Amino acid sequence: MYGDYGYMEEGKLGKPYDFRLLKRLSCYALPYKKTFATALLLTILITLFDLAVPYVTKIAIDRYILASWYRIRTENLTDSKVKDTLNRYNHLLKKTREGDSYFISNLNMKKLDPADLHILKSRRIVSTDRFYRTDAVHYKSEIPLKKEISPYVLADGSLLVPHSQMTGISKSDLLKLRAGDIRGVTLVAVIFFVLILLSFALSYFEFYLLEFTGQHIMQDIRMTLFQKMQSHAVRFFNHNPVGRLVTRITNDIENLNEMFKSVFVTVFKDIFILTGILIILLVMNWRLALVCFTLIPVIFGLTFLFSTIAREAFRQLRATVSKINSFLQERISGMRIIQLFVREACQMEMFTEINHENFLAGMKQIRVFAIFMPLMELMSSLGIGLVIWYGGGKVIQNQLTLGALVAFIGYIQMFFKPIRDISEKYNIMQSAMASTERIFEFMDLKDEIPEPEIPSIAGEVKGHLEFRNVSFSYEENNPVLHDISFEVKPGETIAIVGSTGSGKTTLVNLIERFYDPDSGSVYLDGIDIRRWPKKKLRNSIGLCMQDVFIYAGSITDNISLGMEVIDEKQVEKAAYQANALQFIQRLPDGFRHEIGEGGSTISAGERQLLSFARALVKNPRILILDEATSSIDPETERLIREAVIRITAKRTTIIIAHRLSTIRHADRILVMHHGRIIEQGNHKQLMNIRGVYYKLNKTGTGKD
Ligand code: GTP
Ligand code: MG
Repeated sequence: MYGDYGYMEEGKLGKPYDFRLLKRLSCYALPYKKTFATALLLTILITLFDLAVPYVTKIAIDRYILASWYRIRTENLTDSKVKDTLNRYNHLLKKTREGDSYFISNLNMKKLDPADLHILKSRRIVSTDRFYRTDAVHYKSEIPLKKEISPYVLADGSLLVPHSQMTGISKSDLLKLRAGDIRGVTLVAVIFFVLILLSFALSYFEFYLLEFTGQHIMQDIRMTLFQKMQSHAVRFFNHNPVGRLVTRITNDIENLNEMFKSVFVTVFKDIFILTGILIILLVMNWRLALVCFTLIPVIFGLTFLFSTIAREAFRQLRATVSKINSFLQERISGMRIIQLFVREACQMEMFTEINHENFLAGMKQIRVFAIFMPLMELMSSLGIGLVIWYGGGKVIQNQLTLGALVAFIGYIQMFFKPIRDISEKYNIMQSAMASTERIFEFMDLKDEIPEPEIPSIAGEVKGHLEFRNVSFSYEENNPVLHDISFEVKPGETIAIVGSTGSGKTTLVNLIERFYDPDSGSVYLDGIDIRRWPKKKLRNSIGLCMQDVFIYAGSITDNISLGMEVIDEKQVEKAAYQANALQFIQRLPDGFRHEIGEGGSTISAGERQLLSFARALVKNPRILILDEATSSIDPETERLIREAVIRITAKRTTIIIAHRLSTIRHADRILVMHHGRIIEQGNHKQLMNIRGVYYKLNKTGTGKD
């Protein structure tokens, strides 16, 4: 009873690296390139600020919190090797005022080559005692330093106080002594705060600009898609379920938006961050950096492996989700039938099954992630462990500052976040690429009913219609019309009758160019209708369709179909001509009465009258009435008959009738049977030949 909605197709995944698609997609971003470029610039700035944060921490620790100096002993130096070494590092050393000692800061100490440092340490040239450097010279007398060790004074007047002397002094003295460091730490804190504030402010603008660009691009694509959809031939809609088409314009585009927001943009950000961190780590300490980098191949290998597994799980999940969607869509729109035939229990069973499938697919995906996420966490911890083990050792050996170690840990944590997100982004990317592919596939579909390349420049439509040897089939090898030829002169009224399925509505479809004939041609005013601009052709024809489509809206809206050129007077006139005035006036708000979607709140006969009014409101040269088959009460039938006589005057009219009473007055009646015209003539002539028309009249449909 229900069609397959192409579940697998909905569940398929695209290749995230299909650059052909991405390139095409970028055409839509082109008009917004300036906004996008600004957003990217902001992204770079924000990234720089983010990257600066651990480094600022390092400065606070190394330069101020743990600032320390070491004395270089130069008394009785005889070893020329040591002398050479010291000479080489002369620029890093600070001389005391007396010129008898040298000092080196902890920051400069790690600049020494480890081998040189080893030489200096092993010969006890570098003191193990730590000193604090303070510019509080004038406190010298006030601060109760232990008398026996006099502090050293550097050339610039700053004081070097041994660490051992600081232990006993009071808190306030300590603060005085280290006032310079406190100022430094405060400055760092201010810089830190400013960085975060700037990052916050820029993030707002970045987010805004990106959303702005993304939403605009989506809007444009949606417009293009809808325009394309409107231009499609009727045949297209027969082959594509509504649900799928709606999905194309809503979900698929939303997927694109998701990709734009959470992948494109963050990919740029991630690339900046990752390269930034790599560079900073290498500059800070290339040895430690290389130790950390040993993890990178493992991380990428794992990510690739999991992406592959996750891809399959994700594909299954999508397939089951779309299965649920189309199931619900069908069942909800067909709820009446389900209830009527008491199929609820059976439907419930089917739903339980696909719902469970969805659950299993979801669980499979979760299992994959439940391993991947902690594994990445583990790798991150492993990275930090490596830094602590290797870097900690280096700190102990004075080859790395503590601040650098802390910054390293910060960067390693930052480094892992984008990598952890990669697999998630990969999934978004895949489904977005599948959506992109479907969107472009749809855009590339050829229009089956093309506009004429060189449109005819005919003036006013006179209303002369002619079918010449027209054959047509909806599906190959199943012809519906065979070699149809007939002519309707301007102002003439012809009627078409025939049994159900004989091809009457199909004739109308050809006149309106919902389809084009397989062979032969239809002419309007002597010109092949394929050479008429579609808009002009359709505007000159008023069509009352067999199944009247009613939009949710007022009566006026339903008659004028929102055409602005039509005013209320015209609507009222059309309603009068169609004999619909009576019933409209009976409605609570008259012309303003709101009808529900599908017109379920008005009767079938009323719908028919409304559709007459709709066809007439344009005052078309050609009028086609495809009469509804549903039975209506004699009163409405009389109204319709009267209306038909009134509105067909002076127009070229084609009436397709089931109630033969409506067409007696027609100038000519064509009788169709299995896609052929088998009888032609007026009522009298056809009755006289006692053929099919005569029989149809006798079987009751034409009874007066
Ligand atoms: P009634 O309105 O019932 O009196 O029939 P009709 O004479 O208007 O028949 P119509 O022209 O609608 O259909 C003629 C034949 O074409 C029938 O056998 C239909 O089954 C078939 N047909 C109509 N529309 C379609 C379509 O959209 N696709 C396909 N494949 N066949 C169609
Ligand atoms: Mg029909």
